[in-house]
Amino acid sequence: MRKKFIAGNWKMHKGGKEAIEIAKNVKEGIQDDKVDVMIAPPFTAIPDVGRTLEGGFVKLGAQNMHFEEQGAFTGEISPFFLLDFGVKFVILGHSERRKIFGEVDDLIAKKTAAALTFNLTPIVCVGETLSEREEGKTFDVIERELNTIIPLIDKKKIVFAYEPIWAIGTGKVATPETAVEVHKFIRGKLGDIGQDIRILYGGSVKPENAESLLKEEEIDGALVGGASLNPESFLSIISTARSV
Ligand code: 13P
Repeated sequence: MRKKFIAGNWKMHKGGKEAIEIAKNVKEGIQDDKVDVMIAPPFTAIPDVGRTLEGGFVKLGAQNMHFEEQGAFTGEISPFFLLDFGVKFVILGHSERRKIFGEVDDLIAKKTAAALTFNLTPIVCVGETLSEREEGKTFDVIERELNTIIPLIDKKKIVFAYEPIWAIGTGKVATPETAVEVHKFIRGKLGDIGQDIRILYGGSVKPENAESLLKEEEIDGALVGGASLNPESFLSIISTARSV
């Protein structure tokens, strides 16, 4: 049985006192580990948020990282630095990194391999654009994105997130049927180990639609953007994950 996992991706939002306040509220709202919970603040808030989460059940994540331990990589953050602050998870291959920052499959695979080496659990994002979906290319795109990652899978230490790009930040959540169809496709590609690997859904997950998605056995949790910035909404999604 795969444990549900609710992960918050703050993207380029929140810093300073506000970040600490949100982390504190989320920490106080989670009193056991029935559901796994993670928040990924911007890099600059990681030290404060990490300290705030200490002694609680909420895990710390990062939104990206470089694949080398150190070197002449201006503006980059090494996996090794993240470990210092208690980071356990790292989101890799988010569609915003692929689209805006030109990250390609090979780079994402290198980062995934590095995360596993450093004992960080990668949350690898895959998903199609609206035009790819309309042209019937959804499964081709996802298969291509998975191809470089599948050989790296190390027991259960990897998480996937299906994030259809047309659903991110648009309020247009995928129907449970659409998400389940893609999750099944991904799991099928993973082979036997697929039964043990968690696949989250991301894209406009809100308290109002969380139950319909999370009650599906195929959907092992959610990668939440906007709604993770509000502790009340985020805790409500977690509470739904506990009850389904
Ligand atoms: P929204 O929940 O804001 O649509 O963002 C989803 C996402 O990109 C999480 O990584």
